[in-house]
Amino acid sequence: MSQIRKAVFPVAGLGTRFLPATKANPKEMLPVVDKPLIQYAVEEAVEAGIKEMIFVTSSAKRAIEDHFDKNYELETELEKKGKKQLLQILRDIVPSDVSCIYIRQAEALGLGHAVLCAKPAVGNEPFAVLLADDLIDGDGAGVVKQMVDLYGEQRCSILGVQEVPKTETDKYGIVSTGEDDGEVASITNIIEKPKPIQAPSNLAVVGRYILTPRIFDHLGRTGRGSGGEIQLTDAIAHLLEDEKVLAYRFKGTRYDCGSKIGYLKATVQFALKHPELSEEFRDYLKEIGA
Ligand code: G1P
Repeated sequence: MSQIRKAVFPVAGLGTRFLPATKANPKEMLPVVDKPLIQYAVEEAVEAGIKEMIFVTSSAKRAIEDHFDKNYELETELEKKGKKQLLQILRDIVPSDVSCIYIRQAEALGLGHAVLCAKPAVGNEPFAVLLADDLIDGDGAGVVKQMVDLYGEQRCSILGVQEVPKTETDKYGIVSTGEDDGEVASITNIIEKPKPIQAPSNLAVVGRYILTPRIFDHLGRTGRGSGGEIQLTDAIAHLLEDEKVLAYRFKGTRYDCGSKIGYLKATVQFALKHPELSEEFRDYLKEIGA
C-alpha cells in the first residue's frame, strides 16, 4: 500500500489567462488532445497508489465534479449502440477503488488557503498536492510516483523543482538549498515570486508537493503574502523551522498549461505521442514546414 493515500487538487482558481475559453468552463477542464488537464493530474496520483482525491473547488467548477461522476445517460446511450470502446474510456476515468471528495473554497484567498480547506478531509497524515495546470510528462514513472518513492526513504515534505530562466523567478516559489546531490537537495529557504534580482536561486517549485500534516498548523497562522493571498510557500517557509523539507529535481518534462504557449507546446507534444494521431499529425507538421 502506498504511504501517501490522499491527494489535494486546488481547482478553485479563476483561470483569467485563458478568457474567454474559461468564462463558463474551468481551466482545469481544458483538454490536451482528448483529456482534460485535471484528468492527467488524477491519473498521475492514481499511478502513485493514491486512492483518495480531494478537490478544492469553487462555484464555477461543477464541470469537474461531473467529469469524475458517472454519466448514466451517456453510458446507457453508448451501451445501446454497442460502443464498447467509448464506454470503457468513460469507465476508466477513475478506477472503482478511488474516491473523490469535493470541498468548496468559499473565498479566493490563494493556494495556501485552498490547501488549508482540505484539512478536514486529509486529517493527520502526509498527502500530495497537484496543480493541474502544471502538466508533467514523467520519464519512466509519473512525478508523484517518483516523489512518493522518495518519501518512502526520507519521510519528510518534498517539493518538485526545476531550474527556470533567471528572468522568470517572479512566477514561482523559489528555493535556496543546502546539501545537494544534484537530484535531491535540502531546502534552507523558500520565497514566493521574488523579482530576479532578489531571487536566491533559479530553482523553482512546480506544482507537485508532498507535505506532512504539520503544514496545516502553519497555514492556519499564515497571513496574506505575495499578491495579497495566503501562500503555501510562506507556510512551507515556517515548516522549514520545524522539519526537514527536500527539493526534488523530478525526471520529466513540465508544460506550464496555465500559459497559452505552454498549453500549445503540451498539445503538440501529446498529439505527437498519441497512438491514433501521431503519424498523421507528424505528416501535417512536415507539410506546413513546422
Ligand atoms: C503557484 C505557487 C508557486 C509555484 C507555482 C507552480 O503559483 O504559488 O509557488 O511555483 O504555483 O506552478 P501560481 O502559478 O498559482 O501563481
